[in-house]
Amino acid sequence: MDGNRQIVINELPNGPLREDNFRLIEGTIPQPRAGEVLCRNILVSLDPVNRIWLEPGPAYRTEHPGMTLDDAGDGAPAEGGPGLDPAVSRRAQPLRDIRKVLRPGDVMDAFTLSEVVDSNRTDLPEGLVVACVAGWQEYAAVPAAWARPIDVRASLTHHIGVLGISGLTAYFGLRHVARPQAGETVVVSSAAGAVGTIVGQLAKLVGARVVGLTRSDAKNRLLERELGFDAAVNYRSPTFAQDVATACPDGVDVFYDNVGGSVLATMLEAMNDHGRVTCCGVVSQYDGTPAVGLANVPLVLCVKRLRVEGMTVTDFVDLWPQAEREMAEWIAAGRLKALEEVTEGLETAPRGLIGLLAGENIGKRTVRVGPDPLATPAP
Ligand SMILES: NC(=O)c1ccc[n+]([C@@H]2O[C@H](COP(=O)([O-])OP(=O)(O)OC[C@H]3O[C@@H](n4cnc5c(N)ncnc54)[C@H](OP(=O)(O)O)[C@@H]3O)[C@@H](O)[C@H]2O)c1
Repeated sequence: MDGNRQIVINELPNGPLREDNFRLIEGTIPQPRAGEVLCRNILVSLDPVNRIWLEPGPAYRTEHPGMTLDDAGDGAPAEGGPGLDPAVSRRAQPLRDIRKVLRPGDVMDAFTLSEVVDSNRTDLPEGLVVACVAGWQEYAAVPAAWARPIDVRASLTHHIGVLGISGLTAYFGLRHVARPQAGETVVVSSAAGAVGTIVGQLAKLVGARVVGLTRSDAKNRLLERELGFDAAVNYRSPTFAQDVATACPDGVDVFYDNVGGSVLATMLEAMNDHGRVTCCGVVSQYDGTPAVGLANVPLVLCVKRLRVEGMTVTDFVDLWPQAEREMAEWIAAGRLKALEEVTEGLETAPRGLIGLLAGENIGKRTVRVGPDPLATPAP
């Protein structure tokens, strides 16, 4: 081990994210403090929420039992602070609810899959693969209580995607919040993305008619051809509302929304009475675009008696292992496909995140930062 390549924030974006908001530096490998382990990053997850973390001021500031907001400064318990109950915090990882406020000079934060390379007398053995929030860098000192051991049952790219935050979000937002029934029509926005591709396939597994929304006809044809979507509609078409009506001849029972804004406004009008809307994310307003008000709310909710429910995947943290097992079985049986885009090298992260926010990705986008410790060497 020698240096620690890191991507730090050059300046916070003031509008759409740019590559010069970041810079690559050669840092040093940190010494883990008491209660921390040293992690070597293997895969870095690129997520729309990374862009929210770059907004000034805290995002996702809620308190966990055993931890105060003051503890959240640098991702580690404050000196002399109460620290974390490992059971509570490990369950809540890796989507840490208490976020540090990112400032210029900080390493960009990100979910990662990492290998413990110095256990530092904690209960996490060296060689263990953990999910944590170790950022855009090669090595990080991470509180052991905030590293979630991975029960490796598939490729690590699956564990950071379909069996990680993205797939679990799709699983719980659809199956526990929207609860579609066989024969119902489910529409999902950002349908070709990491969450959307899984939502659509899980809805097909319960016997629903599934319609995807994306900005691209090429993505839409791929959803129909590769993932079994019944139809897919381009939300940028001037005939969007009509196209939804054509694709959903029995109306829409469930809308799984990842984007908000004008797409959500149009979809509320397309809902059947007593329809359910899962509000999973609002990617249309993450990258410097102001929020759009919904002129048809609350009237359309009253008239159609809609149930609109927000969710975060951490609400279901106790159920993650069971969902992970179930989805791994569906993948092994060929019933669930994981579309993945993995780029090589830490330096590809800024461009990858910008492209994700611009709709370039199909499926889960990750960056390989270091070798997979479990890979069998080529003969
Ligand atoms: N609630 C939770 O716990 C939780 C957890 C994880 C993720 N999420 C949310 O789930 C959503 C999807 O995340 P993901 O990781 O799967 O990302 P993703 O869908 O793989 O990637 C982002 C996609 O957003 C779409 N998009 C970008 N700008 C848009 C705009 N102005 N209007 C409409 N669509 C736009 C683009 O596809 P197209 O434009 O082609 O559709 C782009 O490919 C995000 O909102 C994210 O914050 C929520």
